Amino acid sequence: MKAKLEELRAKAINELDSIDSPSDLEAWRIRYLGRKSALTEILRRLANLSLEEKRATGAAANELRAFLEKALALKKEAVSESEIARSIERGRLDVTLPGYPPTLGRLHPTTQMLRQICDIFTTMGFGVVEGPDVEWDYYNFEALNIPQDHPARDMWDTLWMDSETADGQRPMLLRTHTSPMQIRVMESRRPPVRVIVPGKVYRYEATDATHESMFYQIEGFAVDRNITLADLKGTLFEFAKRLFGEERTVRFRCDYFPFVEPGVEMAIDCFLCNGGGCQLCSGSGWIEILGAGMVHPEVLRRVNYDPEVYTGFAFGLGVERMLMLKHGIDDIRLFYSNDLRFLRQF
Ligand code: PHE
Repeated sequence: MKAKLEELRAKAINELDSIDSPSDLEAWRIRYLGRKSALTEILRRLANLSLEEKRATGAAANELRAFLEKALALKKEAVSESEIARSIERGRLDVTLPGYPPTLGRLHPTTQMLRQICDIFTTMGFGVVEGPDVEWDYYNFEALNIPQDHPARDMWDTLWMDSETADGQRPMLLRTHTSPMQIRVMESRRPPVRVIVPGKVYRYEATDATHESMFYQIEGFAVDRNITLADLKGTLFEFAKRLFGEERTVRFRCDYFPFVEPGVEMAIDCFLCNGGGCQLCSGSGWIEILGAGMVHPEVLRRVNYDPEVYTGFAFGLGVERMLMLKHGIDDIRLFYSNDLRFLRQF
């Protein structure tokens, strides 16, 4: 039996040597390793042999099988390499053709703007924190001086969660602004705090060119001893110059937000007409870019900051609005309608 196996091995290898096409190789495989091959036949008949013979022949036959399989695998590689070489020779495969360029992704314009604004504030010493999109009524309204039935709630059209408390109140909502994070951060830290909060906010809006039901805001606030309105103005003036150009001037006017006192609105002089009046600034020469103010003493008290010791400022700005101004985009819906012709421009 041993001799027979050796004979088989010599014959198989001899034939394998001269093969150089995939189809001949497959025929060889069937001949020597296939179901009806002599080797398979030998292995199948092992069962009928005595224990002694079974051991000796079995080991040898299995060794031969492994050997042939290995030889086959090696040959397969060699054959396919020579196949490629032949294709190149015949000119069917032109390896000098340029490949397909990989399509590269890019950052969404909102992401780019978020990063740019965060960079500006982090270099001024602000940390960056994020908060939950689904918020408690307490943080979104109550703790910010907007109690139930306060008319200020009408400033925000709100998307409420279905969940209800026993008395029929809806305690959760999609946050309408990033200001609730003022409370969360102050609850968990002692002054000084100086952070910005980028994130999504939601409003129950019929969408149009200037309204989306989801958009981004960046909240910023600083609380410490001796923080004054001058700090607010200096910080935001610096921000405006870094984002919209060194030559910008800013204008602060009174505004109302229940959680600040005093409240202000900041505008920059129109960078398109330099204040002369054009379509972008609706002829006024000024463009409103954010709301801000000094943190209300009542808000500080609620998080156990002593308003006699600590003061702070806060601001909130719309990220898409910055982009629309900067790039002259006239429809906010373009940002989230996934039209690559728009997105690829950034
Ligand atoms: N949260 C306000 C808004 O969404 C903006 C704001 C933030 C105003 C902080 C003052 C201070 O309109």
